[in-house]
Order: sequence, then structure tokens, then C-alpha cells
Amino acid sequence: MAANQIRKVSAASARAHTRKSKQGERRAFKLSPNMIALIVAVVGSFLGYAYLSLKAPPPKICGSPGGPSVTSPRIKISDGRHLAYKERGVSKEEAKYKIVICHGFDDSKDFRLAISEELLEELQIYLLSFDRAGYGESDPNPERSIRSEAFDIQELVDGLQLGPKFYLIGISIGAYPVYSCLKYIPHRLAGVTFVVPFVNYWWRCFPAHLSKEAFGRLRVQDQWTFRIAHFTPWIFHWWMTQKWFPSFSVMEGKLDIFSRSDLEILKQLSETPMEGQEKVRQQGVYECLHRDIMVAFGKWEFDPTDIANPFPNKEGSVHLWQAYEDRMIPFTLNRYLSQKLPWIHYHEVPDAGHLMIYNSTHCEAIIKAVVST
Ligand SMILES: *[C@@H]1O[C@H](CO)[C@@H](O)[C@H](O)[C@H]1NC(C)=O
Repeated sequence: MAANQIRKVSAASARAHTRKSKQGERRAFKLSPNMIALIVAVVGSFLGYAYLSLKAPPPKICGSPGGPSVTSPRIKISDGRHLAYKERGVSKEEAKYKIVICHGFDDSKDFRLAISEELLEELQIYLLSFDRAGYGESDPNPERSIRSEAFDIQELVDGLQLGPKFYLIGISIGAYPVYSCLKYIPHRLAGVTFVVPFVNYWWRCFPAHLSKEAFGRLRVQDQWTFRIAHFTPWIFHWWMTQKWFPSFSVMEGKLDIFSRSDLEILKQLSETPMEGQEKVRQQGVYECLHRDIMVAFGKWEFDPTDIANPFPNKEGSVHLWQAYEDRMIPFTLNRYLSQKLPWIHYHEVPDAGHLMIYNSTHCEAIIKAVVST
């Protein structure tokens, strides 16, 4: 009996509920302003999403309230930005060779050349590394360009009073600041070394078939990353942070972009974690990593082949070290460049990969070539 009543009551309340919601539906249909509001909200949040994903979040600037703290020596340059640096080897006063190092992608001034203190002492070398703009503890540069990197270096060495000339080593994507110095401040250079230098596939100096062939050998996701950096940099932040398509393979930690010798080096490196790596991206990935790719693979004001021989009287030399098994930088393009630019001493190292500078045998050879000329 009681159970029957309960059933009746709940059936009645269910009917009432259905009636109510039908009325609700009818009302919602009639109340078109509500629908409009809903549509506006949906479209608005989509646009908001699009806007937020296109626009990079502001950087967390070192030393600003709530930002990471400043723990390294820094130089203030003319536009008010700071550049953080690190020195190694003999003092700059007694050094015979003052060498500035331009670190590669996702790296910093804490990148350590695989060369002993004894050898630095013996060869009287002073090493200066610095965080390129937006990396580590150096302020971001929203105006960053190929050109600005050369003048950052010039202001840094002048701030530290290194004297009229210095040597320069650029590693991987750190080659574009070196090309920039060769173009804009060649009179300041005593010698130049490229190590596994990156190439821009849109440099006009490459014969079309050669750059096309090299580009085609990249992973499809990397081709898209470089194309977007080149043609539509305004969606680059979205591309690098979206989850629908794979973007830059290096960021995904895939190992097949490394050669056999690279993997050996990675194994060694993982046993002795390098200091300072946690600081590399602390100001946000956009100002360091994304901007690096956008600048390097963007549109250049000049081609490497537009650069004049910086040492016409052989008062210095330019070395380019290419790893033959490099899977990130195709040797065909750097080989071509060094044929076009006879003042480049081209070293193609067999059995070496993109990480060759971490191998002390190769690193010493590279440094000895710097000081032998
Ligand atoms: C460094 O390079 C040398 C010369 O190619 C090679 O013999 C050696 O095994 C390499 N070391 C490492 C750790 O890869």
C-alpha cells in the first residue's frame, strides 16, 4: 500500500517536472535575447581563447616583483636591459685570447665548454658566456632581431672592457648572433668559430633544389614549425603551445633526432646534471625559445654570402665545424656555404653528431684551432 502511494506520488511529480521543463524550453525559445547572450558568450569565449593562445603571456622578468631573483653578475646596456654573464679561465687582464660564447637553443651562460682549467691556463684563455636576451637572467628583448644580437654582444664586451677585439664562438642556433657580428661589427672580431651552425632554409644563396632537399629531410612537424616561424610568426606562440598537432620535435624529447654518438654524449651528460639548467626558461618560453626560432628562421636582412671576408689580410680566421652525422643541421647546406665563402675553414667531422661540442676531444680541437691562428 505505502509502496503504491509512493509510486503514484513520484509519477505525479515526474509529470509536473516534465511539464515544467517543457515550459522552460518554450520560454527559452521565445526569449531570444537569452539565446543571443548565449551565442555571444560562446563566440566571445572562442575569440578569447584564440586571442589568448595567439598572444604570449607576459614574461616573468628577473628581479621584478614576483619574478625570479637575480643571482649572477649583469651588465646594463643602453636600452636599459640587463645581460647576465659568466667568466671562466684566466683573468681578462692577463688573457691572450678573450673568447665570447653564444649558447645554443634552450641553453644559457651556464653551458660549459668541455675543456679543462689547465688547458685554459696553458693557452691563456678567458671565456665569457652570457644569457642571450630572454634566456636565464638576461632581460627579454621584444625587439629582438638578427641585428640586435650583435649589438648586445658589443655592449657586453665594452661594458666589461675586454678591449677592441675578441674571439667569438657560436653553437647551433647561437650561430645567428655570430653571422650578425660578421655583418655589423666585423672590425671588433679577432676570430670566429661556428660549431654545428644552424641554417635558414630561406637564405636566397642556396640553390633551390639543395635547400628543398635538406628541408624535405626534416621531420614534417619541424618543417611546419620553421614554416610558421618564417611566414606567420604571429601564430607561432599558439603553434608551440597547442596540443592538436606535434610541433617542434626537439621540445618533445624525441631521441631519433640524435645520432649514435649524440646518444652516448646524452648518456654521459645525464650522469652529471649541469648547473643552471633550471634557470634557462624561468622568464617564460616565449621570450627565450620561441623568439629564438622566430628570429633565426624569420626573414633576414642579408644572406651569409653577402658577408665580406672579415680578415682580408689573414689577421684572423673563421672556422666552421660541421658534424657529418648531424641529424638536425644538414651538412649539405653548410658544405655549400663554405664553398661559396672561401675564407671559411670548413671542418667536417665524421662520426660526430649535433652534440659534438660536448665531446672533450672535439671541443679541444675546436679551441686549439681558435688559438692556432
Ligand atoms: C669523442 O670523440 C672521440 C673522437 O671521435 C671518440 O673516440 C670518443 O669515443 C668520443 N667520446 C664520447 C664520450 O663520445
